[in-house]
Amino acid sequence: MVNGGLHEVDVPVGTTLADALRDVLGLTGTKIACGEGHCGACTVQLDGVPVLSCITLVHTVGEREVTTIEGLREHPLVQAFVEADATQCGFCTPGQIVSAAALLAATPRPGHDEIVHAMSGNLCRCGTYPKIERAIEAVAAENRGG
Ligand code: FES
Ligand code: FES
Repeated sequence: MVNGGLHEVDVPVGTTLADALRDVLGLTGTKIACGEGHCGACTVQLDGVPVLSCITLVHTVGEREVTTIEGLREHPLVQAFVEADATQCGFCTPGQIVSAAALLAATPRPGHDEIVHAMSGNLCRCGTYPKIERAIEAVAAENRGG
């Protein structure tokens, strides 16, 4: 399942989830930067847990639910990132939002340290970390009732 829809992909063994999402399903919101599991740009959720799709083989996904940035269009984090000006080049942003959404689903009102810990696998070459944290904190505050 990808973003709530059932998909079967016919790809060679060894194909990564990132390549299957982008090249077969056309879900190019998932970015590939390092391609080696170091940067978090390719983060998607598998049953709600953030994983690095560039080092996840698509044949290991099975029946699990894959959530990509395309499945999070309506998430309040999207607007919060805009309002916090938390994107510069934007290349890391899909992975940042996917990771942050997983954090907020598991912990709706995370503290600052929890946010920093949960986001530590998502690198941003543009250095927007403080603004990313502010965006997540804004949604956490909404979850607290303001
Ligand atoms: S592209 Fe997957 S971790 Fe960098
Ligand atoms: S906004 Fe450019 S890498 Fe994060």
